[in-house]
Amino acid sequence: MLDVNQVRNDFPIFRKKDGDFIYLDSASTSQKPESVIESISSYYNSYAANIHRALYEIGEKATDRYESVREKVKRFINVPDSHVVIFTRSTTESINLIAYAWGTKKLAKDDQILITEMEHHSNIVPWQLLSSRSNASLNYIPIKKDGTLELEELKKNISSKTKLVSVSHQSNVFGTINPINDIIDEAKKIGAVTVIDGAQAVPHMKVDIKELDCDFYAFSGHKMLGPTGVGVLVARKNILEEMDPFMGGGEMINTVNMNESTWNEVPWKFEAGTPNIAQVIGLGSSIDYIEKIGIDMIHQHEQELLHYGLEILSQNEDITLYGKAKKRGAVIPFNVKNIHPHDLAKFLDTDGICIRAGHHCAQPIMNKLGISATARASFYLYNTKEDIESLAESIKKTVGIFN
Ligand SMILES: Cc1ncc(COP(=O)(O)O)c(C=O)c1O
Repeated sequence: MLDVNQVRNDFPIFRKKDGDFIYLDSASTSQKPESVIESISSYYNSYAANIHRALYEIGEKATDRYESVREKVKRFINVPDSHVVIFTRSTTESINLIAYAWGTKKLAKDDQILITEMEHHSNIVPWQLLSSRSNASLNYIPIKKDGTLELEELKKNISSKTKLVSVSHQSNVFGTINPINDIIDEAKKIGAVTVIDGAQAVPHMKVDIKELDCDFYAFSGHKMLGPTGVGVLVARKNILEEMDPFMGGGEMINTVNMNESTWNEVPWKFEAGTPNIAQVIGLGSSIDYIEKIGIDMIHQHEQELLHYGLEILSQNEDITLYGKAKKRGAVIPFNVKNIHPHDLAKFLDTDGICIRAGHHCAQPIMNKLGISATARASFYLYNTKEDIESLAESIKKTVGIFN
């Protein structure tokens, strides 16, 4: 069993604020353990130098530390080759990279991009932009009101025109873990490229890229105990080699003359300019931390919290819970009768409880549910059953104030 007290002790924010701080918004961003913060300050304190160019000791150390994180990502999610691990700023940037560098070259009128109604805006808007640039159509696999995909509609919507299928591994609104193996299989049958948005999956469950065998997989460091400003894109090597660069500048070139340039090898072809060195190093530490605890242990702890949370919150008749997927992560969207989620979040905050309220960057889901917003509690390894009890109590108190 996970020793949550020990875990919490590793996080300065819980040590300082213990007792009056209940953080239930990890689906938005996670808290950071001391080891991650320390690895970032250690770079700035003792070996701050640019990478891949400095011919002195601290520059070589910075380069080694940065490059070693590719190996860590490779091991953590079982990527076939560390050279297909590209560092970006975020999941959002990773998906935009695909849409520009792959999509602009490959898609044209009469082609189709297929996504789902369950996506975060960062897996919708880049495809809308690509659709208007290329004239390819953008179609959606619908969702049911229970927060699962209408998978029967996938077979109806997918055709030889479909060139790209992009789906989230786990929904940030419902927590639904999508049957991405089946979706990838269907896409492969017609030769479509597959993109998986793993922003909500990699921090919380075992992900195995070799087993999934998708073409692109994207995630963010800040949701997995790492810093903001670092994301990852993992991709199939031959596809990366065929692609044009996303951004031009230093580091991504092999040669430059006045008229033209040639490109560096993959992955550096996609890392133009000085990258977020400290953040990449911080991501490496967050992987170390998660591996030390064990991703399966974290998943199991979160599942216990999820079921406890669903049980406790469903006892309150003023609460409407959304999402009924059998396989789901530790995310609970809900509304409380006669209280706008923004007001609820503000009142919970007076008890030191942080939840998310709004459309969760997923307006098509809100439209489907016929609401404008929900409250959302999401859990991570540092949360306890007591956190959930405090949430339930504070909701009751707020209902009392409003009615
Ligand atoms: C499912 C999903 N995809 C993509 C994103 C975007 O992540 P980022 O803001 O780190 O780019 C999020 C963020 O909440 C998300 O939940």
